[in-house]
Amino acid sequence: MDILIINGPNLNMLGRRDPKYYGTETLDDVNEYIKASFPEINFSFFQSNHEGAIIDALHESIGKYDGIVMNAGAYTHYSYAIADAIDCIDIPVAEVHLSNIHEREDFRKISVIAPNCIGQIAGLGRDSYIEGVKLIIERVAKNDK
Ligand code: DQA
Repeated sequence: MDILIINGPNLNMLGRRDPKYYGTETLDDVNEYIKASFPEINFSFFQSNHEGAIIDALHESIGKYDGIVMNAGAYTHYSYAIADAIDCIDIPVAEVHLSNIHEREDFRKISVIAPNCIGQIAGLGRDSYIEGVKLIIERVAKNDK
């Protein structure tokens, strides 16, 4: 199984961002943790601070991956363009967040991408990615039946 992990703006700054919400690990640490948790899965990793680059990565994933786990960062809350890009591709996308966006500022409680994702996992720190991968595995297994 091939899974793409997409991280959006400012997630390259993990390790420097507010540890109360984002922990102390770097993005590389989180990516290594994901890989080590599922040795049987072939992971690719993409991070960008640019909306268009994330949209391009979604488009280019067609035919390459069984699923995508995405932390769209702040774009989660207002990027209709990313929401539309998810809608264009026929690949399950799991939305994940390190922090619990529902117990933070009001603007973070809204996800405009959620309706186009197979599920949302928030507040588990790096384990949000792990649960996101599990969502993809379950979805792929269901479709194979
Ligand atoms: C985040 C939550 C967003 O509100 C924020 O803008 C981020 C990270 C999270 O992982 O908790 O950049 O997606």
